Amino acid sequence: MNHPSSRLSNHILITLITILCISNLRTTSGCTRAKPNPVYKTFIRKACNTTGFPILCRSTLYPYASRIKNDTVRLCNVSLSLTLNSTRHAYLTTSKVPKQIKLTHREVAVVKDCIENIDDAVYELRRSLHSMKLLGGKDREFQISNIQTWVSAALTDEDTCLEGFTEQKVRLKVKNRIKKSVVKVSRMTSNTLAFINSLTY
Ligand SMILES: *[C@@H]1O[C@H](CO)[C@@H](O)[C@H](O)[C@H]1NC(C)=O
Ligand SMILES: *[C@@H]1O[C@H](CO)[C@@H](O)[C@H](O)[C@H]1NC(C)=O
Ligand SMILES: *[C@@H]1O[C@H](CO)[C@@H](O)[C@H](O)[C@H]1NC(C)=O
Ligand SMILES: *[C@@H]1O[C@H](CO)[C@@H](O)[C@H](O)[C@H]1NC(C)=O
Repeated sequence: MNHPSSRLSNHILITLITILCISNLRTTSGCTRAKPNPVYKTFIRKACNTTGFPILCRSTLYPYASRIKNDTVRLCNVSLSLTLNSTRHAYLTTSKVPKQIKLTHREVAVVKDCIENIDDAVYELRRSLHSMKLLGGKDREFQISNIQTWVSAALTDEDTCLEGFTEQKVRLKVKNRIKKSVVKVSRMTSNTLAFINSLTY
């Protein structure tokens, strides 16, 4: 509805919300998402410094600083969840390629292998995240070693997908569709593995 008085009250409402947001930001929680506490960013920066891809690590995890706080288990959990989500996305991207580009025989084989490997990685990361949820209970050592096993397997699968593009003749337009997202996912997985390896029994 575009009635002038309803527009006016909308305007007043928006102004009120804005004022509330601004005053809230000065306290603890903010309006939609809390501004990351600089102390928590320090925790993430230090943790990311132990990974193979610290810049990617910081840019993916800083937005979650207030959820992660100073907690290594939460750090693993969020990192794993983000990695799983990106890997799902890479799977969708990769599995569309045969429909978008007319592939050569050789490319069909490489892309098919890649899709299978990424599918396996999604499964392994999902299992890891599931084990993460059980971590509070007993058998902590067993759970952590399971998570390590699944995440390493996911990393191997992602790298196997990428190897297909270096060893065989694949046209650039096929490679470009797939490689960028899988490279990112494999770096995120590698960083997540570094965090999981730092969990203590
Ligand atoms: C990262 O670690 C290196 C040593 O490994 C250290 O010199 C550097 O200050 C650290 N950087 C941050 C941001 O913690
Ligand atoms: C988080 O850890 C830092 C040191 O790494 C410490 O200075 C800070 O007080 C901690 N913050 C909370 C809320 O525990
Ligand atoms: C990953 O995706 C799921 C489902 O879409 C979502 O619930 C979850 O919050 C996402 N993880 C992160 C860390 O954003
Ligand atoms: C990890 O995150 C999930 C939701 O994404 C939550 O259900 C679970 O309790 C979290 N586990 C830990 C150990 O924080």
